[in-house]
Amino acid sequence: MKHFIELPKIPHVEMPSRSTKAKHETSEPSPTGTTSEKIAYYLKRVDEALQGGGEKRIAAQHEKGKYTARERIDKLLDPGTFVETGQFLVHKGIGLMKGKPELDGDGVVTGYGRINGRLVYVYSQDFTILGGSLGNAHARKIVDIYKRALKNGAPVIGFNDSGGARIQEGVDALAGYGDIFFSNVNASGVIPQISVIVGPSAGGAVYSPALTDFIIMTEDTSHMFITGPSVVEEVMGEKTSFDELGGAGVHAFKTGVAQFAGRDEDDSIELVRNLLQFIPSNNLEDPPIIDPTDDKARTSDRLDEIIPDDSNTPYDMKEIIHEIFDHGQFMEVFEHWGKNIIIGFARLNGVSVGIVANQPKILAGALDIDASIKGGKFIRFCDAFNIPIISLVDVPGFLPGLQQEHGGIIRNGAKLLYAYCEATVPKITVITRKAYGGAYIVMGSKHLATDYNFAWPTAEIAVMGAGGAVKILHGRKLNAMEDDDEKNAEIDKLTTEYKEQFYSPFTAAKLGHIDEIIMPSETRPRIIEALWPLLTKRESRMKRKHGNMPL
Ligand code: HXC
Repeated sequence: MKHFIELPKIPHVEMPSRSTKAKHETSEPSPTGTTSEKIAYYLKRVDEALQGGGEKRIAAQHEKGKYTARERIDKLLDPGTFVETGQFLVHKGIGLMKGKPELDGDGVVTGYGRINGRLVYVYSQDFTILGGSLGNAHARKIVDIYKRALKNGAPVIGFNDSGGARIQEGVDALAGYGDIFFSNVNASGVIPQISVIVGPSAGGAVYSPALTDFIIMTEDTSHMFITGPSVVEEVMGEKTSFDELGGAGVHAFKTGVAQFAGRDEDDSIELVRNLLQFIPSNNLEDPPIIDPTDDKARTSDRLDEIIPDDSNTPYDMKEIIHEIFDHGQFMEVFEHWGKNIIIGFARLNGVSVGIVANQPKILAGALDIDASIKGGKFIRFCDAFNIPIISLVDVPGFLPGLQQEHGGIIRNGAKLLYAYCEATVPKITVITRKAYGGAYIVMGSKHLATDYNFAWPTAEIAVMGAGGAVKILHGRKLNAMEDDDEKNAEIDKLTTEYKEQFYSPFTAAKLGHIDEIIMPSETRPRIIEALWPLLTKRESRMKRKHGNMPL
C-alpha cells in the first residue's frame, strides 16, 4: 500500500449570498457601460445561465419525476460547495447550429465540490437544453472536468440525461464523444468514475458510462440502449418498450451493465455518497480508514453453528458477512445480478475492504459466466484503488452444462482467475466449506499470491465432491459388483474414506496449502490481525506495457 499526502482538510469557503449584489441590479445591464452596468450585465447573464432551458422545460422535467441538472448537483454535493466551470461556453455555430441561439453552458453543468468534505468533480447533462444532447462544446466541458480531476486526483461523477450526439453538429458531436471515451479510459484505474443514469442514454453514448467503474441507474426514468425501440422494431421486427429494452430492471438484474438501481433520483444520489465512503480519491491514496467503533475482538458464536451437517444443505453467506464485518454493515454491489457470487464493500476495524464471497444459496455457489465477470471486475477495481480483498469461499466448482460451455465459461472464468492473480493488494481468504477443483484455485487460493489463507474446521478442500470422486476412482470395481447391497456398502465405505481424507482442512494444512485452521467464531479478530501488517504491503510485478487479460 502506498502512503501519499492527503489533500489538506481546509474548510470550504461559503459563497457570498445574492443580497450583497443587490446594489448593481438597479443599474441598466450593459457589457460596455459603467462598472456598475457591466456588473449588472454579468449578474443578468448568470441568472439566464442558471435558468437552463427555461421554466416550461424545467416544469416538464419535474413532471417526469426528474430533477434538473443543477438540482442534482445541489443534492449530491455538501451544501454550498459547488464551483462551476465553463458556464458561458457555447456551441461554435457551425453546421445546422449556424444562426441558432447560443445556449449558455451548452447543455451540461460542470464543476467541482465536496462530498463529506472530499473533493469531487461533477458533470450533469441538462435535458432542458436541446434534450441534453452532446455538442462539441458540451463534450469539451466534460473533457475539461476529467483533466482537472486527473491532475488533482479526485473522482468524477457524471449525471447522464441526454438524447445522445447532437444531430445538428454531425461529426463534431461524434468527435466530442470520442474525446470523452478517451478521457474515460485515460482516467481508468487512476481516479474513480461513477455514472448516474437519470434519463436517456442512447446509442454510442452508452459507452462512456460503460467505461466507468460504477453505473447507477434510476428506476422508471433511466434507459440505456444501443438503438431505441422504434429502430429495434424496424430492423429486427421485435416489438419492445423503453423499459423492457434498457430500463434499470434490465441492466441491474439481467445484463450486468448497472451495479446499482436507485428507486428514484434521491436514492441514486445517496448511493453515490455511500459508495464514495469506501473508496479513495485516486490510485495513489490508501483506502479511507475511519476510527473503528466496533469491537475488534468481537467473536460470534453463531458462526460455530452456521455450517449445516449435511454438506449439500445451503446456508446464507450474507449472514457470515454480517457477523464478521464492522457493525454488520455491507454495501452490496450488483445485488441483483450473478447472485451466486456476492461482492461489495465493508469495513474491518475501520479499514475499507472489498468482499468476494460464494453464495451457497444460489446454484450451490458454483461459478458461472456472470459470477466470473462480476467477481473479476470488482477485484480489478479494488486492486486499482488499493482496497484489500477478503474472499469467503464455499464453491463446489464451475457450473457445468452446454449453456455455460457454449457461452464461453472457459474465456469468462479466466477473467476471475486473471484478476485474482493480477491483484497485489492485501488478499485474505477464508474457506468456510467447499473448495473444490479449479474453482478452489480460482477463489483466492494460496497459489495466486494471497497473503493469508484460513480454513474453518468445516472446510472441504478436494478435487471434487465425494460422490463424483468415488465413481471415477472405483467405477470399474463398483460396476462389476452384482449384489446391490454389497455395492452400496462398498460405496459407503469408499465415500467415508474419501471424506476422511478430504472433508476436513487438515490434509491441506499439512501440505501447507492453507496457513491456519481457525474457529469460525473467531474469524473477525483473526482477519483483523492478519490485515493490519498488510496495510503497508508493497508488491510489484515484472514491468510490462500491460498484461493480455482474457476479454
Ligand atoms: C439534438 C435532440 C436530440 C439529439 C433530443 N433532442 N435528442 N436534439 N440532437 N440527439 C431534442 C429534441 O429535438 C427536443 O427539442 C428536446 O431535445 C427534447 O426531446 P423530446 O424528443 O421532445 O423528448 P422525449 O420525448 O423525452 O424523448 C427523449 C429522447 C428522444 C428519447 C431522447 O428525444 C430521442 O429519441 N432522441 C434521439 C436519440 C438518439 O437516437 N440519439 C442519437 C444516438 S446515437 P425541442 O426543441 O423540440 O424541445 C449517438 C451516437 C454517439 O448518440 C456515438 C458515439 C461514438
